[in-house]
Amino acid sequence: MSAANTAQQKEAFARKLTDVLNYGALNLAMGLGYRTRLFDVMDTMEKPASAEEIAEHAALDARYVKEWLGVMVCGGVVILYPGDDGEDRFRLPPEHADLITRRAGIANLGVYTQEIPLLTRCAMDEVLEGFRTGQGVGYDNYPRFQQFMGQLADAKHREVLVETFLPSVDNGAIVRQMETGIRVCDLGCAEGVALMLMAEAFPRSTFVGIDIAEEALYQARVAAADKALTNITFINQDAAVLDETSDLAGTFDYITAFDAIHDQTQPLAALRGVHALLKPGGIFSMVDIAAGSRLADNREHPMGAFLYTVSLMHCMPVGLVDGGTGLGMMWGREKALSLLQAAGFDAVEVRDIPQDAFNLHFCCRK
Ligand SMILES: C[S@@+](CC[C@H](N)C(=O)[O-])C[C@H]1O[C@@H](n2cnc3c(N)ncnc32)[C@H](O)[C@@H]1O
Repeated sequence: MSAANTAQQKEAFARKLTDVLNYGALNLAMGLGYRTRLFDVMDTMEKPASAEEIAEHAALDARYVKEWLGVMVCGGVVILYPGDDGEDRFRLPPEHADLITRRAGIANLGVYTQEIPLLTRCAMDEVLEGFRTGQGVGYDNYPRFQQFMGQLADAKHREVLVETFLPSVDNGAIVRQMETGIRVCDLGCAEGVALMLMAEAFPRSTFVGIDIAEEALYQARVAAADKALTNITFINQDAAVLDETSDLAGTFDYITAFDAIHDQTQPLAALRGVHALLKPGGIFSMVDIAAGSRLADNREHPMGAFLYTVSLMHCMPVGLVDGGTGLGMMWGREKALSLLQAAGFDAVEVRDIPQDAFNLHFCCRK
């Protein structure tokens, strides 16, 4: 490589580093703006407003809001209008608000600005320690992150599960069977939102939620009782120890696992457990990240660096606990298929999921 090329490459990388520092800082400040609802408040203000006016509308401190607006203007999120009176005025363009406010619904990317700051707060020191020791990091470190991700997942389940996801399974056959009355299990059900949506929609079927997080299961039982759902039970059970000898073996027509396999310490054992729990001919829907198993296949992923960071800070370390496998979130389609096959699933169909570009549906028949 010539000296001119080397200099050019160095210059381009220096520009990238400047972007990294600026965007990293901007992400943190946007996360604060999202949590304080400053974006939502600015979205309701029709004219450019002063920092004091914005602070007053948001019931926040004007000095903090003014400093935050500095970040937003330099980051190109908010537009600065110098006022005739020498006072700065600020406006959040509606085109930006469409993507970062709570009203944006499924298009809301603003909500994700909280993810990296939350993970940093939960586990920065423990992950640093993991680089030295190779040890995992327990779920206990992540209550706030779990709660945050749970809320996002629940919102998605409410929007797509019954309306679009289930009708796509086995060309609508699963929905027809659920209407008639079958046994359904959700593995890694957490607080049971997906399972309760199904139990409400299909009262003739019976639903069982399995998880190892007792606190989440307690919340699930309370919520199911509040809704007076009698066709649902929740069991505290480690998926990795389920096998043909289990009381539940061969008792389910349909099993789901939403984002609940790659974090497990023994994912293959859990998948073997799913296989054991299904009746012959039963269906397993595994919804997990849309990625390739080779790093080179993910290089062009528009959010590759973000997703690998979430995995580094959470999915991989929780999967390494007690000498676990530590698959990481980006384990990818090929690895998923090989584990499913090793667990006994020979017939697997991989499908995109409408309205969910982040995940794939591995639809498996026993
Ligand atoms: C990322 S959460 C997904 C929760 C839920 N399925 C959803 O759609 O939001 C993964 C869940 O798997 C559970 N889990 C992890 N390891 C497990 C195991 N060995 N057996 C059963 N559940 C497990 C966790 O407690 C957690 O609730």
